[in-house]
Amino acid sequence: MAAFDPDKEIPRHIAIIMDGNGRWARERGLPRREGHRTGAESVEIALETCGEIGVDYLTIYAFSSENWKRPEAEVKALMGLLAHFLKEKTSSLIKNNIRLRVIGQIDKLPKSNQKELEKSIEATAGNDGLTLVVALSYGSREEIVEATRSLMKKAQDGELDPGNLDEATFAAQLNTAAYPDPDLLIRTSGEFRVSNFLLWQISYSEIFITKTLWPDFRRDNLLEAAGEYQKRQRRFGGV
Ligand code: FPP
Repeated sequence: MAAFDPDKEIPRHIAIIMDGNGRWARERGLPRREGHRTGAESVEIALETCGEIGVDYLTIYAFSSENWKRPEAEVKALMGLLAHFLKEKTSSLIKNNIRLRVIGQIDKLPKSNQKELEKSIEATAGNDGLTLVVALSYGSREEIVEATRSLMKKAQDGELDPGNLDEATFAAQLNTAAYPDPDLLIRTSGEFRVSNFLLWQISYSEIFITKTLWPDFRRDNLLEAAGEYQKRQRRFGGV
């Protein structure tokens, strides 16, 4: 296990695919929503740990655009958990200088969730510590198509010369325009997939996959991932 060293490079942006909540619940003979509920505790611990080691951005995949296909009761439970998190935790986000942001098709969420999100985003807007980016109804392909659509519109309107389109102009159209690319992508539950998460943004991210299921992913697991990151040599395609 790679030991984390606070004096070595700290990943500035960590992105997490939080997977395995269902399996965690099944192993215990519990309903899936219990896996998600315990997973929400892991989110709090990840936030605390990122704050402690000095990470600037934490992006979590809380609900994908494909997750709408899950049974209605599970979708409801996940939206309920989000509402609960926002109601109960916004004051501690403020206290801990955490800024909340979201990416994804937020207008697809229930109106009550949208309102709670707006309130928490506004209440934490002035914070300048860790930024927590929650991906909700998020799909990377959709995001890329949407960015392409708006660039095509600009070209049609004569505001953009297609010959001048470059990576920076494209990235500026993505939901993540305000954030640096993730340095470290963590996926729990041992699956080797990126599942439509930040496809553009993770081009040069270091990837850490652990068998640990998300509800079991706690402080030591995050430190292990950060320690593993510190062992990697990032070359960004160079030598
Ligand atoms: C994947 O596990 C996890 C999700 C689809 C939801 C993740 C959401 C949370 C942890 C809720 C908390 C979020 C906030 C912001 C309060 P899975 O259900 O696909 O697990 P499985 O692959 O084992 O079935």
